[in-house]
Amino acid sequence: MIEVEVLSSSISDIDVDAVLTGVFEGDSPEVLYSTDEKLKNMVTNLFIDGEINGKLATTSLIHSRGEIKPKRILIVGLGKKNELSLDRLRGMAAVSGRLLRDINCRKIGIHLGFLPRNFRYKDSSMAVIEGFLLGQYSFDKYRYKDKKTYLERFGIYFPEEVDFDAILLSKAIRTGAYIAKATNLSRDLCNEPGNILTPVKLSELALKLGEEYGLIVKILDEKEMEKLGMNLLLAVGRGSVEPVRLIILEYHGGGHDKPLYGLLGKGVTFDSGGVSLKDRSSMSHMHLDKTAGAVVIGILTALATLKVKINIAGIIPAVENMPAGNAYKPGDIIKSMSGKTVEVTNTDAEGRLIMADSLTYMQSILNIKYIVDFATLTGGSKAALGSDIIPVFSNDRHMVKLFKEACWHSGELCWQMPLYKNYLKLLKSHVADLKNHSKDPPSTIAGALFLNEFVEHDTRWMHIDIGGHEFREEEFSYLPCGATALGMRSLIRFYLHVAGEDIGKDSEECEE
Ligand code: BES
Ligand code: ZN
Ligand code: ZN
Repeated sequence: MIEVEVLSSSISDIDVDAVLTGVFEGDSPEVLYSTDEKLKNMVTNLFIDGEINGKLATTSLIHSRGEIKPKRILIVGLGKKNELSLDRLRGMAAVSGRLLRDINCRKIGIHLGFLPRNFRYKDSSMAVIEGFLLGQYSFDKYRYKDKKTYLERFGIYFPEEVDFDAILLSKAIRTGAYIAKATNLSRDLCNEPGNILTPVKLSELALKLGEEYGLIVKILDEKEMEKLGMNLLLAVGRGSVEPVRLIILEYHGGGHDKPLYGLLGKGVTFDSGGVSLKDRSSMSHMHLDKTAGAVVIGILTALATLKVKINIAGIIPAVENMPAGNAYKPGDIIKSMSGKTVEVTNTDAEGRLIMADSLTYMQSILNIKYIVDFATLTGGSKAALGSDIIPVFSNDRHMVKLFKEACWHSGELCWQMPLYKNYLKLLKSHVADLKNHSKDPPSTIAGALFLNEFVEHDTRWMHIDIGGHEFREEEFSYLPCGATALGMRSLIRFYLHVAGEDIGKDSEECEE
């Protein structure tokens, strides 16, 4: 992890490859005026010419040619001052981080002298470091050419007259940095191709990361799952040469008197659809069907690093869904771990099957009464709300409220969807207790209702379907192309919230 320096300084004294700062639309770049004389009025002239205009996401790069300590100044447009939000700061840091990475800057600083008074340095610094590290992310592990520049040092600088609480500030910066670091770790795991990150490899990685971050990790193999009757999970994996694994990671930071929270993440390392094979175009990114599992691992590393006072178990059913002579087939009737039987009408609706047995495992073996599940469950999720808004289902209003607030603090968006029982008719089977798929919409609600059938009446439960949200063709703000891990930063904040930690403030209150 890179070191972050926090200091009071004037821009001209910051010894870096580039220092970035912001300017608002309609304002002059005052923060730079004390430096401008040494720069032969370059900033003033660019402002008069209209190049520095504060319009959102515009950038001007000034080369200082040895006149001041920073080699470059990057001036970023922040739009209208009254529209500034922490998320806009995050985005500004991300865009700048990417731009500076692509011109090989390794030592970078941000000067926050442009911030309006109602923005606390603590929250703003957290947003800036988070956005910067998220924006610099790229998955270039498998490239031999064009590798990106590695950041060596990052500094956050305040005007010289400012007084700040160094302890509070460094805690906020650590939180922002570790949220980003964990998100980037999960993005790396998501982006790993299906030929490399198999269920067994994922379980080995979980063991390794567990050791590194002080988590208890337990891996169940197929024999152990057979004994427990996890037949749905085993059926999904049967057509693959890759064995199935159930990964259980635990972090105990909350003490003996606190409950154990449960976080379940779908870990399909490749989803071909199985015998109900997907068509070519729908299959191309299906190595990302393990996104939620990768996110669970990342979240536990973040909570452990931040020493959050919470006890939490992360469960990942890890499996590859393939067609084969011995694969499970449409028409099969399978007895789940809960005892309920399922008629398989589509082997591509495999996520709900592996999640169902995992939910039973969490409730009956681990005695968990508070469960969040996270999954690339249905393509209908993106069809319903687009790729920016995440559908969330729950039997508990308070959980949704906390998650909504956490999303708001992360700059992510979610919307609560209905769990009305009417649509249970979509899952009615003539031969078993349930079927796993209906041709009729809404597939996302049907998926949630299927899972709900495996949730006991006294379990508080929330289901988040990120089908289609996990991937982007093009980078935008702090979201890269490829795996986004969307929703993950909100889930980390959700657990910080559950553990009673301050998750930051913006200049406005979170709307309901
Ligand atoms: N992994 C997919 C869902 C998905 C689709 C995620 C597109 C990301 C992008 C899931 O296993 C699946 O295939 N779902 C089917 C369910 C259907 C058969 C009920 C779907 O949504 O099409
Ligand atoms: Zn599928
Ligand atoms: Zn799937």
